[in-house]
Amino acid sequence: MKFFADTAEIADIKELAATGLLDGVTTNPSLIMKSGRDFMEVTREICGIVAGPVSAEVVALDHEGMMREAEVLRKIADNVCIKVPLTIDGLKTCKALTSEGTMVNVTLCFSANQALLAAKAGATFVSPFVGRHDDNGFDGMQLISDIRLIYDNYAYPTEILVASVRHGIHVLEAAKIGADVMTAPPAVIKGLVKHVLTDKGIEGFMADWAKTGQSI
Ligand code: E4P
Repeated sequence: MKFFADTAEIADIKELAATGLLDGVTTNPSLIMKSGRDFMEVTREICGIVAGPVSAEVVALDHEGMMREAEVLRKIADNVCIKVPLTIDGLKTCKALTSEGTMVNVTLCFSANQALLAAKAGATFVSPFVGRHDDNGFDGMQLISDIRLIYDNYAYPTEILVASVRHGIHVLEAAKIGADVMTAPPAVIKGLVKHVLTDKGIEGFMADWAKTGQSI
């Protein structure tokens, strides 16, 4: 499963990139606002750090506006992936851009039928938001299973990008279902390494090593 970082924070992206765990980055208007950075400038910087897809979201709601913004965004770097909302205009934009060879991430997906439409529109990625789905009384992971089944039934190449990931259980379940990608905040990705028995094991080994009086 590919790991994308859901952030526009450069320090976090650099730290994760150094671990070799990072396959891409996703941003959205809220994350850009949080970073306090200029959208174009920070996107360019991220594209220079990560070789994989970097999602940059359009803010126009009509097809013509989306195309205009996509034109500006895709000039930033070859690894920019244009993020469009799951609306008729978004799907139309997805079709047009992917036909021209530009990567598209169709975002704000909350139903398997919406994911089916994204695949039919030729999306590179579809982003079902599992955390927000759970928050509203739905089963985010059931949504991922349903999309996996549908995409496998018809051999759609669209990659399932599990988004709005809040904790390790989301990551584990997504991997078990066979999602292609997950995007999570850096803290969630870094948290995956933690295990109380790993910490306890290190503590024990360090204590015993100190007793040997040796050094390497
Ligand atoms: C995905 O691309 C989105 O940026 C993101 O995962 C949204 O997550 P949130 O529900 O935590 O805002």
